[in-house]
Amino acid sequence: MSENTLSVTDNRTGETYELEITDGTVTAMDFRQMKESEDDFGLMTYDPAFTNTASCRSAITYIDGDAGVLQHRGIPIEQLCEKSSYLEVAFLLIYGDLPTEAQLERWVHDVTHHTFIHEDMKQHLQGFRYDAHSMGMLLAGVGALSTFYPDAKDIDDHEERYMAAIRLIAKMPTLAAFSYRHNRGQPYVYPDNDLSYSENFLSMMFKMTELKYEPDPRLAKALDVLFILHADHEQNCSTNAVRAVGSSQVDPYSAVAAGVAALYGPLHGGANEAVLKMLRRIETTDNIPDFLEGVKNREEKLMGFGHRVYKNYDPRARIIKKHVDEVLEATEHNPLVEIATELEKRALDDEFFTDRKLYPNVDFYSGLIYEALAIPTEMFTVIFAIPRTAGWVAQWLEMIDDSEQKIARPRQIYTGGREIDYTPIADRDGPEKITNDAIRRPVRSRRGA
Ligand code: CMC
Repeated sequence: MSENTLSVTDNRTGETYELEITDGTVTAMDFRQMKESEDDFGLMTYDPAFTNTASCRSAITYIDGDAGVLQHRGIPIEQLCEKSSYLEVAFLLIYGDLPTEAQLERWVHDVTHHTFIHEDMKQHLQGFRYDAHSMGMLLAGVGALSTFYPDAKDIDDHEERYMAAIRLIAKMPTLAAFSYRHNRGQPYVYPDNDLSYSENFLSMMFKMTELKYEPDPRLAKALDVLFILHADHEQNCSTNAVRAVGSSQVDPYSAVAAGVAALYGPLHGGANEAVLKMLRRIETTDNIPDFLEGVKNREEKLMGFGHRVYKNYDPRARIIKKHVDEVLEATEHNPLVEIATELEKRALDDEFFTDRKLYPNVDFYSGLIYEALAIPTEMFTVIFAIPRTAGWVAQWLEMIDDSEQKIARPRQIYTGGREIDYTPIADRDGPEKITNDAIRRPVRSRRGA
């Protein structure tokens, strides 16, 4: 018997099966042969939320949560943040290797020269209500891009793939900044090709009457590092959404729109916003002991602490922390920073947190940097979506070239009734939980028609 196998005895039949173990994994389809009878469908595995199911093979991002390690294409995130730039990391994620000088030059040139959006797209954004959430606008904007570039449907065409990658990475900051300006009732600022990727984003966000916007290099650098840190994080909720939707062979804009939608949810992209709200609620450093007591009594959660994968210091948090000071030097004093610093110190000194391996995660600090940059909390998730686009595109490309992948189509365990006869309407009681009152209540939006 080979060592790399798993013996499974089906006690219903007494049969024993040998399942191959490859890469620490058994194949779920191997269970299908285990049947109680000839007409039995075969055994399935049940794993809601994929907590212990590998859905793909990927060579893009490696995480060792216990050791606090994050590597893209094998290169440690610490080295990338110190020596690289976001656009170079985007190239690395997508193509698997660092670019040569000529390749990087072309890549940066192509991204820089595709940052403009069609004027009709601008009008599409202008059609939103003045207070539309920027993430909703971004979601609609990315989806709408597919109608401007219908040739992207040809996903087997390598030139189309390249153009889609370039356009998505290039236009995401433009859509994000336009949605921010829309919210503020300010004119949209067109991209400036003289500026770097992060500088241009700051310009599109904050340029007012000045002829040329000149961002503080410390802020542009911190933003670029934040972009690198958020570029990819293997199979999370939004990446899984991009892969699942993309597996239908839809165009990449529609697939990435699914990723934006997934990121919109508070359990995924919204944690840094929650950190800021928590710090505001704590109000002063004097209230920290009471707050931490509340956390220990499970009345509160220490937002920005803990991680599903990292049971050690989140390596991204360690890197961001270094940039917080630089950003604060370049911006106005912010009392929330003192609260955050003291809160972190006390939590790391407290056995409740250390015993549970609760350390600061990336969101503990990213919110502080965005706050210092005067970016409103509703924009935090939008800014997360900008760099994650490189990861989504890389994962989408890997998925469509993977011969083991098919259209994503999970199974279910059916729990409803069977073979129930159709009841004529006059004889029906209707489901108890839908009251007549609820049905009759007019459906009217909170804000009118
Ligand atoms: N504050 C207080 N207690 C916590 C926290 C926290 N932030 N996180 C976990 N715990 C406790 C939890 O109650 C449990 O205690 P016990 O064993 O006594 O019941 C123990 O620590 C283990 O927690 P868990 O729920 O099993 O951990 P998880 O891996 O399921 O949850 C998490 C991870 C990120 C959802 C959670 O730590 C959390 O809600 N953190 C706050 C929200 C946050 O900062 N989210 C951003 C994550 S980073 C985003 C990204 O990578 O994209």
